[in-house]
Amino acid sequence: MVATAEPKIDSQAVMDMDAQYVMRFITRQPVVFVRGEGLKVWDADGKEYLDFLAGIAVNGIGHSHPALVSAIRRQAGTLMHVCNLYYVLQQPALAKRLVELSGLGKAFFCNSGAEANEAAIKLARKWAKENLGPEKYEIITALGSFHGRTLATVTATGQLKYHEGFAPLMPGFKHVPFNDLSSLELAVTEKTCAVMLEPIQGESGVRPATPDYLRGVRRMCDERGLLLILDEIQTGLGRTGKWFGHEHYGIKPDIMTLAKTLGGGFPIGACLATDRVASAFQPGNHASTFGGNPLACAAALATLDVMEQERLIENAAETGKYLYAALRELKDRRDDIVEVRGIGLMAAIELSREDAPAVAAECLRKGLIVNPVGHNTIRFLPPLIVKKEHVDAAVGIVNEALGR
Ligand SMILES: Cc1ncc(COP(=O)(O)O)c(C=O)c1O
Repeated sequence: MVATAEPKIDSQAVMDMDAQYVMRFITRQPVVFVRGEGLKVWDADGKEYLDFLAGIAVNGIGHSHPALVSAIRRQAGTLMHVCNLYYVLQQPALAKRLVELSGLGKAFFCNSGAEANEAAIKLARKWAKENLGPEKYEIITALGSFHGRTLATVTATGQLKYHEGFAPLMPGFKHVPFNDLSSLELAVTEKTCAVMLEPIQGESGVRPATPDYLRGVRRMCDERGLLLILDEIQTGLGRTGKWFGHEHYGIKPDIMTLAKTLGGGFPIGACLATDRVASAFQPGNHASTFGGNPLACAAALATLDVMEQERLIENAAETGKYLYAALRELKDRRDDIVEVRGIGLMAAIELSREDAPAVAAECLRKGLIVNPVGHNTIRFLPPLIVKKEHVDAAVGIVNEALGR
C-alpha cells in the first residue's frame, strides 16, 4: 500500500470558517493546535510550543498521556454511555477515590466546573431550607472570584464584567471583598446559608486566601451554622502541590467542587459533600444526562492513577517552588515586574506595564503558551508533569518577550 501524506491544514481557512459559523463568544489567538504530547503542542504549520497553560489547568498529566489514551480507547470500545437511570460501573469507584482523597462523604458527577458549582449551590440551598428554615438561601461569595458562566454561577462570580448584559441575575447572592473577614461577618444575614470561595482566586490572577482569613471563615461558618463551599475547580487535584488547595490551610469544606484536571482533558466535573450535607439530595432533586458516564469516569480514574503513580502532587510542589523562585529571580533582574504570586504550579507575575496581552502574544510567537489576565498579569498553569528545564526555558522566553 502506498502511504498517503496527511492533507495540509490551512489555518487561515479554519479561522475564516470559525468566524462564519461559531458564535463570537471569546477572543481567540491566531493559532490552530492539532497535536499534543506531554508538555508540547504543535500547530497546523508544525510549529512546536511549550504549554504553560494546560488548557487552563486541565491537562494536568500532560497532553495525550498513553495511559489516559488507552483507558479512553478501551472504554469507548466497551461502553460509552448508559445514563444515570442505571448503575454505572465506574461511578462508585471514582466517587470512592475522591471521597478517600478529600475526607468528604459523597460525590455527584457532571460535565464541567460551572455545573459542579450549580450542584453545590442547589445542594447548599436544599440542605439549608430543610435544616435551618425556608428563608435560608443566600450565598456570600468574594469579589474577584470566578465560579462559571451559567446564570447562577455567573451571579456567584464576583466580577461585574461577567454580569454585563445578563440582568436580571439570580437572586440570593452577595459579594464581599476577598481576604476581609470583618466584611464577610457583617454581610451575613438571617437569610445566609453558605459562603462560597476559591482558596486561591485563579481567574483574577492567582490571589491566595490568607491563612487567617480562610481559617476565620471556617470558624465563622461553624459558629453561625453556615456551610462552607470551596470551589477547587482550578486549585484542586494537585495544582497547588497538595491534592486540594484547602490542605494548605488545615481546614475542610462542607462542599467542594472539582473539574478541569479531573478528566485529564476529558470533560467531567464533581461536587463532593460531607454525608450530612449530601443527604439533602434525594432521588429526583438533581441530575445530569451525561454526568459521570462510563467514558468520563474511566478517563478520571486513569488520570488519578497517573497522578499517583508518577507522584505528580510531589512534582507540583517541588517544581512549583522552582517556578516561583525562577520568577522571583526574573523580577529581581527587571523593573517591569512588580509582584510574583504563586503556590505550587499556579503562578502569576504582575507587570508595571499594561500590555500583558501583547507580552503573552509575543510568548506565543516565540513558542510558549501563557495566559494574560487583565492588562497587567501573566498566569502560568503548566501541566503537573513539568520539569525544571521546562521552567528555565519558559522563564527565558518570558524575559525575551518582555524585551529590554
Ligand atoms: C475556580 C473556577 N470555578 C469555576 C470555573 C468554571 O469551570 P467551567 O469552565 O468548566 O464551567 C472555572 C473555570 O475557569 C474556575 O477557574
